[in-house]
Amino acid sequence: MTERLPLKHLALAALVVATGLTACSKKAEPAPATVAAPAAPAKPAPLKAAFVYVGPVGDAGYTYAHDLGRKEAAAKLGDKVETTFVEKVAEGPDAERVIRDLATQGNKIIFATSFGFGDSMVKVAKDFPDVHFEHATGFKTSENMRVYEPRIHEVAYFAGIVAGRMTKTNTLGFVGSFPIPEVLRNIDAFTLGAQSVNPKVKTRVVWVGSWFDPPKETEAAQALLNKGADVLLQNTDSTAVLQAAEKAGKYAFGWDSDMSAFAPKAHLGSCVLLWGVYYEKALNDVLDKTWKTGATKWGYREGMTDFIKIPDFVPADAKKKVEEVKAGLKAGTFEIFKAPVVDNTGKVRLRKGEVASDKWLGDVNFYVKGVEGKVPSGK
Ligand code: GUN
Repeated sequence: MTERLPLKHLALAALVVATGLTACSKKAEPAPATVAAPAAPAKPAPLKAAFVYVGPVGDAGYTYAHDLGRKEAAAKLGDKVETTFVEKVAEGPDAERVIRDLATQGNKIIFATSFGFGDSMVKVAKDFPDVHFEHATGFKTSENMRVYEPRIHEVAYFAGIVAGRMTKTNTLGFVGSFPIPEVLRNIDAFTLGAQSVNPKVKTRVVWVGSWFDPPKETEAAQALLNKGADVLLQNTDSTAVLQAAEKAGKYAFGWDSDMSAFAPKAHLGSCVLLWGVYYEKALNDVLDKTWKTGATKWGYREGMTDFIKIPDFVPADAKKKVEEVKAGLKAGTFEIFKAPVVDNTGKVRLRKGEVASDKWLGDVNFYVKGVEGKVPSGK
């Protein structure tokens, strides 16, 4: 009597034969389609980061520099981040609305890139505790809001060295935006740099009450040129001052970005801000979960500022002096604001042996000796 194998035994036998055959043939067959491969770990969603700009990205100056920094950091971090920006945002209520929208849209880090965005950011930061808020050139911080800025006065000092050497009238001109400590520091550093090579130098200032207003910037530059200034610097965002100097056959500098192409004859060098190093760090802080509140102030030493493209016609001694100061800043042996610092009313601001602290720099509300006029009341 032949015993009939039940169906399930037959199936098992077939499987054994099949397995044996496979083992003998030593051919690695692909896993049967029905066997699920171990699931690849899900790729984390990119970190959403947003930038708020006060000017247009095409300003060729301050906002353009921030946007270069954003792109640089995004390129380094690849698909780990997704960045966006909103440009031409006025300081004031509009800024709060824009920052709030960006937080609501799922951005986990928001950079507000102008001083006047500070109060708006403080308000929004309170309502979004899991979002990281970053304010450029500001001073207000909280658990989830921090500040960052380049030591721009260093590059203003470099421009001063070249300006002091190039002026024929011993009169420099400065187009100011708002009389806040950051801008006053730049006027003072420019003047101190110039006086380091030419003690007779004086600086005249015209304020425009705006960061970006090319017609007003042009008008201010013209007023300074009319009053005898023959080398200009600005703490405004456009190329207007440099272009006004070019038209008048005088000299000026690029500010925030490389502006050499806008005035081939007038351009004496560009004071540039390199925001990308900071943006990469800040984004990495969030990605690594190491983000902490605080204040970052980086300068030439950390690669966040530079003074570039001094033309060949600038005398070698001025270029050498710039290189010496750069080396001193790199080594940490040179200070822009060190005693004696005396203001233009004769008051001593840094006494023998004193060097400016960050607190001192953040409180500058005076013109150094050599700058003409009175500081207008603050912003
Ligand atoms: N342009 C627009 N906003 C700012 C700012 O906060 N600081 C400087 N230096 N320039 C600006």
